[in-house]
Amino acid sequence: MTTSKINMNNLENVLESLNSKSLKVCIVGIGRIGLPTALSFAKSGLKTVGVDINENLIKTINSGNFPLKDEPGYDKIFDQVIKTELFSVTTKIEDAVPNSDLIVLSLPTPMDENNIPDYSALRNVATQLSTLLSPNSLVIVESTIEPGFIEDEMVSIISNSDKLIIEKNFFIGVCPENANPGEILHDFTSLPRLVGGINTNIAKIIQLIYNFVFSVELVEMPNCKTANAVKLTTNVFRDINIAFVSELSLMFEKLGIDTNVVLEAAKKKYNFQVHYPGAGVGGPCLPINSYQLLNTAKRIGSNLSIIESSRKINENMPEHVLKLTLDSFVDNKKSIENSNILILGISYKPNVKDIQLTPAEIIIKKLQKLGVNIHIYDPYFISSDVFGIRTEQNLENIISNVDAAIIVTGHEEFKNLDISIFNKMKSPILIDTRGIIDPTSAKNNNLIFRGLGRG
Ligand SMILES: NC(=O)c1ccc[n+]([C@@H]2O[C@H](COP(=O)([O-])OP(=O)(O)OC[C@H]3O[C@@H](n4cnc5c(N)ncnc54)[C@H](O)[C@@H]3O)[C@@H](O)[C@H]2O)c1
Repeated sequence: MTTSKINMNNLENVLESLNSKSLKVCIVGIGRIGLPTALSFAKSGLKTVGVDINENLIKTINSGNFPLKDEPGYDKIFDQVIKTELFSVTTKIEDAVPNSDLIVLSLPTPMDENNIPDYSALRNVATQLSTLLSPNSLVIVESTIEPGFIEDEMVSIISNSDKLIIEKNFFIGVCPENANPGEILHDFTSLPRLVGGINTNIAKIIQLIYNFVFSVELVEMPNCKTANAVKLTTNVFRDINIAFVSELSLMFEKLGIDTNVVLEAAKKKYNFQVHYPGAGVGGPCLPINSYQLLNTAKRIGSNLSIIESSRKINENMPEHVLKLTLDSFVDNKKSIENSNILILGISYKPNVKDIQLTPAEIIIKKLQKLGVNIHIYDPYFISSDVFGIRTEQNLENIISNVDAAIIVTGHEEFKNLDISIFNKMKSPILIDTRGIIDPTSAKNNNLIFRGLGRG
């Protein structure tokens, strides 16, 4: 085992290593969050190695191609640091970890088909760390985990071999990631971060390091589990509020009330935080984070009934999109079977190339079951194969060949569309699940229009 030069438990040592730029960093998991994190560490002047099991990703990066095309700003940072000795990537964790003082874990924490959180990547890497960590190293977990995961699992996995003893010769803390895909550079340089350590000294040392790299406000938490509890609370707050407005929007639809109008006015009240209804909640965070808290509750015998019902509401929204679509076909006296429907937007949220847990997939599968031929146009997925469908190259070419269009993602491009383009469809059926089409102009353009929650 290589001896780490720097004692990561000693504030003066760490400060000196930052100033002399001798602190060596290893980021394990260089995906959506980990790669920008690694680039930021390297840009600050610290020698940084990124580790990932995805060989193609490593090849792409090593050939000088930045894989995150929808992360403005990081393409330039990538071009800058890739030319220096400060940044390198590898699949070989066994080479990278023993030579590093700081190991940052940005590993995926997805869930399985039964909505059970899957921490296998973290557990696997923790097992590797138990033999690879140099004495006096510091591990920081940025992945989103349940409160108590560090204290109850990570520490004992890493200290499985007798060589490593927590708080004696290895140290651990958390700095949960809270950046938004598509805005990571902005968020990394402006959003406050939570810091929790295995003890107060480690929390202070993590703040020193993150202040050196990111210069954002760092909020010290009493321990790791509280930091992770805050991270989950903020995201689950959104999941619940989206469920709340989505459920309201179903009722407003029946009452002939436009939810957009309600929310615009409600926003004027000083303590109302606006959230918007839609076709469902996807992505790598919100749905999983709710299930992470539900998993904790189940484990310790607590009850989180609001989160449970919110999940049900959000998961039922694609079914409502189907209902609106069927309704509009009945209105047009047209059978949905064998019809051609264009899905506008498949990303789980606007202006990013990301389809993880996207409601678009559920809507597409439901429509296919009814015998619909699905076409997809998404500016972030041009001429690619997604969900077994070849996506369109442009909107103009496909629009005249379809019977209906469903706006599933509120991409900026769709907000800027001239509504008359929908008159080119074979039958002008338009479903808007994101509140971006004005119902009056849809009516004036003689469209058969259904807007989710629009009355
Ligand atoms: N993407 C987001 O919007 C976001 C925002 C905040 C927090 N997070 C959290 O950050 C964490 C990372 O998320 P992400 O979106 O960057 O995930 P990602 O899937 O984009 O990246 C994870 C990377 O880890 C690699 N990996 C998996 N197992 C590995 C192993 N055993 N060894 C080495 N590498 C391995 C994968 O190949 C992948 O490149 C998750 O916990 C997530 O919940 C994500």
